[in-house]
Amino acid sequence: MPKITFIESDGREHEIEAQTGASVMEMARAHNVPGLDADCGGGCSCGTCHVYVRPEWRTHIGEPNEFEVATLEFAVDVEANSRLSCQIKITDQLDGLVVTLPASQR
Ligand code: FES
Repeated sequence: MPKITFIESDGREHEIEAQTGASVMEMARAHNVPGLDADCGGGCSCGTCHVYVRPEWRTHIGEPNEFEVATLEFAVDVEANSRLSCQIKITDQLDGLVVTLPASQR
């Protein structure tokens, strides 16, 4: 099972064992990682599953589609490495993925 580490804005880390085929958001919720409200349930319309992805993972994750880009425009504290965790599907290649949560989602 791929391991994913979530880092809260205060530095607290949560390492989870993730299920392939699920989204990063779904696994965060399943493991009670705080700070990912995911109000729309993964529908790519709320922006409350916002995370920062380290640049080295970008090629494995791929680029955001037009719907994700549009929703990110309304998220808070957006950076160049911002992604919506509901749109990141977990594969074996994402073993070791590290994502950081925005301070606005504490
Ligand atoms: S859960 Fe709403 S945009 Fe990801």
